[in-house]
Amino acid sequence: DFTPAAFAEDTIKALKEKLGNDKVVLALSGGVDSTVAAVLLHRAIGENLHGIFVDNGLLRKGEFEEVLETYHKMGLNVTGVDSKERFYHKLKDKTDPEDKRKAIGYTFIEVFDEEAKRIQDVKWLGQGTIYPDVIESVSVKGPSATIKSHHNVGGLPEKMNLKIVEPLRDLFKDEVRRVGTELGIDALILNRHPFPGPGLGIRILGEVSAERVSILQEVDAIFINGLKETGLYDDVWQAGSMLLPVNSVGVMGDERTYENVVALRAVTSLDGMTADWCHLPYDFLADISNKIINNVRGVNRVVYDISSKPPATIEWE
Ligand code: XMP
Repeated sequence: DFTPAAFAEDTIKALKEKLGNDKVVLALSGGVDSTVAAVLLHRAIGENLHGIFVDNGLLRKGEFEEVLETYHKMGLNVTGVDSKERFYHKLKDKTDPEDKRKAIGYTFIEVFDEEAKRIQDVKWLGQGTIYPDVIESVSVKGPSATIKSHHNVGGLPEKMNLKIVEPLRDLFKDEVRRVGTELGIDALILNRHPFPGPGLGIRILGEVSAERVSILQEVDAIFINGLKETGLYDDVWQAGSMLLPVNSVGVMGDERTYENVVALRAVTSLDGMTADWCHLPYDFLADISNKIINNVRGVNRVVYDISSKPPATIEWE
């Protein structure tokens, strides 16, 4: 039977012994896994844990600042790196989903590698890998397995000559959350929906630009805040919005408009492998749609995705 308190205590003790006075570098994402891994490592080795949190320009609205502040409040030694322009530059003219994922993954590795080199004598790369990631990367289960290897900084340890430390390697997601609660981590972080490594980059269909990111961030914020305000957020496994590469005709006053279409997606799931679309209340959808169209310039139509996985995937790219 799994006991979070015993797991935390044993893991911290084992990490202390294993790492001694060595330095560890860890990529933080604002997600549950990397945060829980960071706190365990921090309890074990304190300031010798160097966290790096990269702003790839594809995060949710305000997320970089909020998450960085949370980390600092938690006493973690984390450096925030603004690399937005670098990512946008690498994404320029790219429209193929896999090309985009690779560009984002490789740019992330470059940035992380540069930042890690600023820290003297790092010996270890910490990772928030959990048990399902371990299984997924050995048994190839389709696109998202290869995909995740990019995100989870595959290739980094060899390149940087680092040993790997993965304190959550034997845990399932719900166990990670329970350990997080035991460690006193904010429920806001622990109950977050999953968010893909390539972020909004794979929710903007077609070419990504700073302008399109900003449109989607506004849309997404209205949708996610709406879910939170109505208490629906915790009933949904994952939610997000997609900016489609088509314009549609609309009317505003007596003017014809020709603007962007966004799709909202909310799913229920256990592990992301299969999923059903969420039967969100019509009143809620109507309200969100109005708010989006009235407040986000450049969007004149909202649609709701009613496809289950399989055969559709959760993300559109
Ligand atoms: P799909 O779209 O394959 O998504 O049904 C299943 C889950 O995986 C997430 N996802 C990713 N996560 N890098 C990640 O770290 C990726 O490239 C990636 N693609 C999909 C997706 O958000 C969902 O939770």
